[in-house]
Amino acid sequence: MSSSPQVTQLVDRFGRTVDYLRISITDRCDFRCVYCMSEEMTFLPRAQILTLEEIGFIARAFTDLGIKKIRITGGEPLIRKGALDLLNNLGKVESLDELVITTNGSKLEEMSVALKDAGVKRVNISLDTLDADKFKQITRTGDLEKVLKGIYAAKKVGFERIKINAVILKNRNHQEVTRLVQFAIDHGIDISFIEEMPLGVVNSHDRAEVYYSSDLIKTDLEKTFSLHSIPDKTGGPSVYYNIVGTDSRVGFISPHSHNFCSTCNRVRLTVEGQLLLCLGNEHSVDLKAVIRAHPGDMDKLKQVIIDSMQIKPEKHEFDLKEQPIILRHMSVTGG
Ligand code: GTP
Ligand code: 5AD
Ligand code: SF4
Repeated sequence: MSSSPQVTQLVDRFGRTVDYLRISITDRCDFRCVYCMSEEMTFLPRAQILTLEEIGFIARAFTDLGIKKIRITGGEPLIRKGALDLLNNLGKVESLDELVITTNGSKLEEMSVALKDAGVKRVNISLDTLDADKFKQITRTGDLEKVLKGIYAAKKVGFERIKINAVILKNRNHQEVTRLVQFAIDHGIDISFIEEMPLGVVNSHDRAEVYYSSDLIKTDLEKTFSLHSIPDKTGGPSVYYNIVGTDSRVGFISPHSHNFCSTCNRVRLTVEGQLLLCLGNEHSVDLKAVIRAHPGDMDKLKQVIIDSMQIKPEKHEFDLKEQPIILRHMSVTGG
């Protein structure tokens, strides 16, 4: 067994280097998006979730082990008290190239300046439609106007890049893709379209029925825009196209139609302290148990993380026609 302090890079059985850690800091959210949650959700009790200090400790183990990019997610990360303190601490870690966040935008109007000051480089904001009624239907509790103000505030403080994430569902918002891209162009930001993944049971729709592939979206967009394939990488699963004549990029995240697992570079820390080796599988290691059994023992924690690379699965298998085999909702893992 290798001794942890010597290892400076995480590599799995398939030779993939893991240098991207996604951390979900809360399973709670002020929205209830239909693809992410069911209408009635039971959230985790506080004792079951990691404290911010514990998250900071685990993040430090990872940055020592070669993690270069940390994305803070949720639920909605910005509703957790102390989120900014955590971000401020992570923003000071010199070996980290990128501290980034995925948010629903509801708190960005108030928090953009503080996020920029904390060292957050890029912000991904969920926005599935520009129609206020549809927005309400999809998020159940969200307010489009508030999110738009958040996007404008983020734009104003000058993050390196802002990206909209849109999960596209047939007959719910597939008619919106051109308008969303035009919005991205008008505001000089990027946009990624995401195929819905079957994580957790949702009660609002049949996931197979609403499937709308990235190729269909691309065909729709090409009626209005000229898309030029580009090799840009942001460290996530998006495959990018430049919208000719603009500074904006369109990305496609296609877990069903274009599997991207062979280049997977990421692992996830769930809000309960499970290290999840793949979004579409249950393989995990209980880091909360490790740090609570061995408080302050950084070497022990690092060794467990190094060993976990041996169980990182090769790929995800999603079947939209079956009941989800992954019962956790997206909000627990942060996407
Ligand atoms: P960038 O840094 O901008 O590339 O962001 P990202 O795509 O890594 O992160 P974001 O939080 O914006 O995630 C966008 C979507 O990609 C979410 O729906 C995630 O669930 C999905 N996603 C990210 N990583 C994976 C993965 O490893 N497997 C699958 N199936 N989906 C993923
Ligand atoms: N499938 C695909 N994407 C999802 N997201 C939430 N739930 C799902 C799902 N079931 C997206 C959100 C957010 C990102 C972190 O994950 O829209 O942008
Ligand atoms: Fe909240 Fe994001 Fe899930 Fe929507 S997708 S309910 S904004 S965590």
